[in-house]
Amino acid sequence: MLGPRVVRRKDLDLSLNLKTEQFLKTPDASQANWLISRSMDELADDLVHLDSVSKRFVSGSKRKEIFEDWVKSQAKYDDTQLIIDGQQVMQDWERPYMEAMAKVATKTKGDVLEIGFGMGISASYMLAMGVKSYTVIECNEDVRMEFEKWKKNHPKCDVSLVFGKWQEVIGELGLFDAIFFDTYPLSEIEFEEYVSNSVTFAEHFFEAAASHLKDGGVFTYYSNEIDSVSRRHQRALFKYFKEVSFSICSPLFPPEDCNYWWADSMIVTKCVK
Ligand SMILES: C[S@@+](CC[C@H](N)C(=O)[O-])C[C@H]1O[C@@H](n2cnc3c(N)ncnc32)[C@H](O)[C@@H]1O
Repeated sequence: MLGPRVVRRKDLDLSLNLKTEQFLKTPDASQANWLISRSMDELADDLVHLDSVSKRFVSGSKRKEIFEDWVKSQAKYDDTQLIIDGQQVMQDWERPYMEAMAKVATKTKGDVLEIGFGMGISASYMLAMGVKSYTVIECNEDVRMEFEKWKKNHPKCDVSLVFGKWQEVIGELGLFDAIFFDTYPLSEIEFEEYVSNSVTFAEHFFEAAASHLKDGGVFTYYSNEIDSVSRRHQRALFKYFKEVSFSICSPLFPPEDCNYWWADSMIVTKCVK
């Protein structure tokens, strides 16, 4: 069992050193060998595949640090994007992605909860596709004003906004048929914790999503996955949802200066409670 193991590909060698005989000790050594070889093959194949995808990334721009209190920060809208505290919070190249997730969230045509109103792009798609009611949690004051303007364009629909951070207000809400999560880190601490150190940004919301969905309800979220979903990501989902499925949304065209996404495709996830 012990001793370096090496997996070779044209452009890389991947090696693994196990420090103890007890690690992954299966009844039969061949079982452990199979698990380890499989994991190493997966990582090597993933890296080779990401090498080909990396050629399609846009060059991107540097993200500014988040300094201000997000709640009161000015939200600047133009036709193509929403900027809050210097952050590119939402850009309109994501429309096809928002539309694809809106389709998932409106499958049940029921009561939908969205977290994060932003430019209202996903909200408009969901209303056009048909829902019984639409509730959104939003914590920025200017974005709330934008919601109020948007609401006037939908006088016949049952729409409402709950103001505040979802962490503070979601407990007041009941159960929904579908939940759509697309927020943005509110501080550098959140960025470090939820973007850099989580399997996907929405991971910190999975538990809340599951506890506010009816049985059979559907959850979808901005995923940052390019063309598939990692095993760690899948495990995190299966802790809370009984069925999970994926589709690829492409092509997407993030502009060269986009600082929060680089690739030309993203994964749409449908999780059923
Ligand atoms: C990426 S935008 C949402 C985009 C939206 N899906 C659209 O189609 O336009 C993220 C929004 O989430 C809000 N937000 C960020 N963190 C939040 C939190 N903890 N609770 C509530 N809203 C939050 C931001 O103020 C912003 O309006």
